[in-house]
Amino acid sequence: MHTEGIDVEALPFYTPAELAERNGSTRPEIWTAYQGIIYDVTTSKLFAGGKHFRHAAGLDLTEHLEKAPHTDRVFKNFPAVGRLKI
Ligand code: HEM
Repeated sequence: MHTEGIDVEALPFYTPAELAERNGSTRPEIWTAYQGIIYDVTTSKLFAGGKHFRHAAGLDLTEHLEKAPHTDRVFKNFPAVGRLKI
């Protein structure tokens, strides 16, 4: 489970617009969301410029992860910074 060890209830909420502001074009931080949890992937070379293969940061990519060549274990190295407010 990608949220193992994360105190989800303690995470602040961000709107989709606030998440989108961290897509690599306007702010230095690069965030991506999965199952409602926002992860900061700024330090990942694989998200440089807000692009991850054919995907863009600043979005909830939950549905796309099903087709990725990896599981949600990829999030374990990145801090959870918030919850997506829908
Ligand atoms: C076209 C679909 C995708 C491809 C080809 C792809 C490919 C890859 C590859 C090759 C890696 C590094 C090796 C590994 O950890 O397995 C990786 C890491 C990662 N992927 Fe994806 N991925 C895809 C979709 C996604 C989606 C939808 C997400 C959801 C946000 C995602 C999030 C991540 C994260 C957080 C990492 C770790 C980055 C790092 O360690 O620097 N990927 N991906």
